[in-house]
Amino acid sequence: MTRGRNPQLGPDGKLVHLLTLEGLPAEVIASILDTAEPFASIGERDVKKVPLMRGKAVFNLFFESSTRTRTTFEIAAKRLSADVINLNIGASSTSKGESLLDTIDNLVAMNADMFVVRHGQSGAAHLIASHLLATGKSHVHVVNAGDGRHGHPTQGLLDLYTIRHYKRDFRALSVAIVGDVLHSRVARSLIHGLTTLGTPDVRVVGPKTLLPASVEGMGVSVHHDMRAGIAGCDVVVMLRLQNERMKGALLPSSGEFFKHYGLTAEKLASAKPDAIVMHPGPMNRGVEIDSPVADGERSVILPQVTFGIAVRMAVMSMIAGA
Ligand code: CP
Repeated sequence: MTRGRNPQLGPDGKLVHLLTLEGLPAEVIASILDTAEPFASIGERDVKKVPLMRGKAVFNLFFESSTRTRTTFEIAAKRLSADVINLNIGASSTSKGESLLDTIDNLVAMNADMFVVRHGQSGAAHLIASHLLATGKSHVHVVNAGDGRHGHPTQGLLDLYTIRHYKRDFRALSVAIVGDVLHSRVARSLIHGLTTLGTPDVRVVGPKTLLPASVEGMGVSVHHDMRAGIAGCDVVVMLRLQNERMKGALLPSSGEFFKHYGLTAEKLASAKPDAIVMHPGPMNRGVEIDSPVADGERSVILPQVTFGIAVRMAVMSMIAGA
């Protein structure tokens, strides 16, 4: 891709795709979070719509299952007055062997303006963006809604929005990300976002088998003891065990995992008294998090979902140049 130095940015520095938070400048991330602020109040109005993307066709292409991301992208696009087409992948010609890029070409021929793509293969969204550029369709935008283990940039952004909402200044925070970091695109995106915004203390906590070998290179510290790992933290982010991505047995059992790394009220006591608890969902209660903590007063798990609508509105409207 030759659009400027970062393939996500146009020659004028404006966002044209959202593929990853890695390498996205701090001012662009801050601008997305700032743009999301006024959108958050639209959900509280009687008429939950603004005309910023009227007449634009947004295609939701979810090749992997999703509850939160697919639905909040659809709500966000509708609140921006876009036309939303949810391709039912299971009933599409993908099942007859049509390739990803042939599917894209056909949807472009239907005058698509934007693709929101979730795919099990790392790099799928990037591949589509490169293909659009190579085929002279660079006016069509791509948003990565999760690609393999690689990234989930809008989840990272909504996590950043949530942290900023409750804790204000990234430069004064300790954030612990706990559990299956190895298979987590959510963790990767959040780490890139936090370090870009200057968070001085980002920790990953988990057993050796569930932490990437080179994770220190991302600017985080590594902890294997849960209580020590979350000690004094302002934010505790719990991750789901991604059993669908695990090859072979990386853990003795989910019960053993809960004993050592499940977030209980007793373990949470080692974080700061006003620490918030986050989880991208879907949660597995009794595996990585105890129900009283998930539903407790320090949990901001459901506000994360609500903020996700405003953040996705910000991303789509900025990319569309609205
Ligand atoms: N956080 C997240 O990506 O959830 P879904 O898989 O339900 O979209």
